[in-house]
Amino acid sequence: MALITWTAGQFGTNVGFADDEHKILFDKLNKLYDLTTSGSQRSAIGAQLDDLIAYVVDHFAHEEKEMQIKGYAGYEYHKAEHDALVGICAGLQAKFHAGEAEVDEDVGQLVKGWLDNHIPSFDRAYADALNS
Ligand code: FEO
Repeated sequence: MALITWTAGQFGTNVGFADDEHKILFDKLNKLYDLTTSGSQRSAIGAQLDDLIAYVVDHFAHEEKEMQIKGYAGYEYHKAEHDALVGICAGLQAKFHAGEAEVDEDVGQLVKGWLDNHIPSFDRAYADALNS
């Protein structure tokens, strides 16, 4: 069963590229969650972790570029939220590849919890600015 499911009601931002990228991000997170809950090989989990984090970094950079282009007033606050998650992910990624930590289903739950809050409260808030 999917960890997180995109619906317009819960996650729609009214910004096309953001909705498209969030759906891809959810797919990558669900794939990681499936691997961690099905006894998959560590190498497969690591590859999916890297793929997910790389996509998250690219998605955040895309949003930040669009916010800057539009002179969005909430840019700094929003970017700080992004930087906080990237910092957590980068730390986990480094520990995983050093053999000092494992990625289990709690990691998927952590990212899901972050997205559950961030997209409706932060991403949705930039819609008017980005669509102007
Ligand atoms: Fe879609 Fe601000 O992350």
